[in-house]
Amino acid sequence: MEFELRPWRMEDAETIARYANNPKVAANLRDAFPHPYTQRDAAAFIQSCLDADPARCCFRAIAVNGETVGSISLSIGEDISSKSAELGYWLAEPYWGQGIMPEAVRQICGFAFQTYGLARIFAVPFAYNLASRRVLEKAGFQQEGLMRNSVYKRGMLYDSYLYARTSQDGPAHDPDQTDREEHASGRLK
Ligand SMILES: CC(C)(COP(=O)(O)OP(=O)(O)OC[C@H]1O[C@@H](n2cnc3c(N)ncnc32)[C@H](O)[C@@H]1OP(=O)(O)O)[C@@H](O)C(=O)NCCC(=O)NCCS
Repeated sequence: MEFELRPWRMEDAETIARYANNPKVAANLRDAFPHPYTQRDAAAFIQSCLDADPARCCFRAIAVNGETVGSISLSIGEDISSKSAELGYWLAEPYWGQGIMPEAVRQICGFAFQTYGLARIFAVPFAYNLASRRVLEKAGFQQEGLMRNSVYKRGMLYDSYLYARTSQDGPAHDPDQTDREEHASGRLK
């Protein structure tokens, strides 16, 4: 499956609202990602990406055959965290399980380590999000810790895991890489 990581366009709002309006997506993200997810929410998100300082963050739409089917972002920290960035992502459900996100993560990390001179990229998936934890492992991230009771979502407390990849870690190589991932290839614009 070929995909592109490209800057957001306001025209993406309709498609992205349709795919984002999925409880299975929202259940794995912060509450800032609303459910239900309206076209207005999508437009506000896209506007925030267009307004963001490109020296401090990198927001990309994930597009397959010209259609926007997900989002990947890196936000650089401040003060003593200025050499670290937090990674976030989600993909439209019809595209799950095809190796798109591990390859998208590899691509954006390679780009960000080079472009921003980062020392560290981290992500904090909820403990129950086994698919996302697997994505990070396949993209060369190491699990650094379990953060107990760190997530309060829908009235319940959950654990989350801290995963990170540093600029000194070698290129992401997953010995268990599946055929479908070898066939997921992306281009970052
Ligand atoms: C997480 C997400 C990005 C995965 O993207 P993807 O492109 O489908 O990733 P992959 O194709 O690599 O498939 C996911 C991997 O997790 C595994 N997986 C999926 N569900 C699983 C489960 N319940 N238990 C164990 N492993 C699971 C798959 O088997 C696959 O691993 P494999 O290649 O070793 O078999 C996508 O499911 C998504 O957008 N989810 C909702 C939002 C979200 O969770 N965002 C991340 C927040 S931290």
